[in-house]
Amino acid sequence: MNRAVYPGSFDPITNGHLDIIERASRVFDEVIVAVLVNPNKKGLFEIDERVNLIKKATKHLKNIKVESFSGLLIDFMKSNDIKVIVKGLRAVSDFEYEFQMALMNNKLDPDIETVFMMTSTKYSYLSSSSVKQVAIFGGCIKELVPDNIIKDIIKKIKQNSKNIIDK
Ligand code: PNS
Repeated sequence: MNRAVYPGSFDPITNGHLDIIERASRVFDEVIVAVLVNPNKKGLFEIDERVNLIKKATKHLKNIKVESFSGLLIDFMKSNDIKVIVKGLRAVSDFEYEFQMALMNNKLDPDIETVFMMTSTKYSYLSSSSVKQVAIFGGCIKELVPDNIIKDIIKKIKQNSKNIIDK
């Protein structure tokens, strides 16, 4: 079976991510969306919340699995017998970082290939951090994130600001 991993922080998943997942799901038999557990970067959503939001946003796709991982991506790939990494490229500014990561992963395991998909132009400005900023200041996040998770994101942001106020 032709499988690939689509790794990231997904804090939270955006329509840009979903676009890459949908396109990758047409190219590969199975795509594992892998959420990085990064102890150095807390983020807004807990890891299980990110996983659940991705599951909800991709429930129309049959060949997607969502998991979390910690440590090196290549170790996660080895234990799941996956050889291909899918990444989305938004702009030239993404290139340097992605190029470095692709070469490092290939150095760590020469059997691994990274496949880049160019983002759709309508999502080229989108990032999880800009979505969070818009939502935190009460802006509209429709068309930025999947429709069926908008309420979850707004609820989390309201809870979060309440926690900050309560502290
Ligand atoms: O969405 P992000 O935050 O740009 O995703 C980055 C991610 C998760 C793909 C990257 O940080 C990663 O693969 N981390 C795992 C650690 C690792 O394998 N590092 C070696 C490559 S430099």
